[in-house]
Amino acid sequence: MTKTKILFICLGNICRSPMAEFYMKDLVCREGCADRFEIASAATSDEERGNPVYPPARRKMAEHGIDCSGKTARRMTKADYDDYDLLICMDHSNLRNMERICGGDPEGKMKMLLDYTDRPGSVADPWYTGDFEATWRDVEAGCTGLFRSLTE
Ligand code: 4NP
Repeated sequence: MTKTKILFICLGNICRSPMAEFYMKDLVCREGCADRFEIASAATSDEERGNPVYPPARRKMAEHGIDCSGKTARRMTKADYDDYDLLICMDHSNLRNMERICGGDPEGKMKMLLDYTDRPGSVADPWYTGDFEATWRDVEAGCTGLFRSLTE
């Protein structure tokens, strides 16, 4: 069976994209179909390379029983474009950076997470606001919609 390979992308890979990665991993486990997916996350920048998930993001996930330990930030590469089926980012700036890194999106693999909801746009960025609850809500809505789109 071929797995659907999903790479979530944000600027630093310490807040939004790991929250989406670990939310989605938990969701496919709960739905009993973890074996059908390969899920990871990466950054468009090298700013946070090697760093663990940002503590407030980790705490927000832990409130919901989801453990993000072990994850460290890495920058995406052009090779990820061939390796993954979907590259799902958090905002328009991520999308421009992904297109630059990959030299475009000839196979139409690049999406924004909230494209999978009835309110497309950017996932709330907690970096300057500290509002990790708003990010949680967006991640939950986006990943739920993404899961439905892949399984219905
Ligand atoms: P993330 O958050 O892209 O959701 O992981 C950020 C992390 C780091 C920075 C900005 C946003 N930064 O400027 O280093």
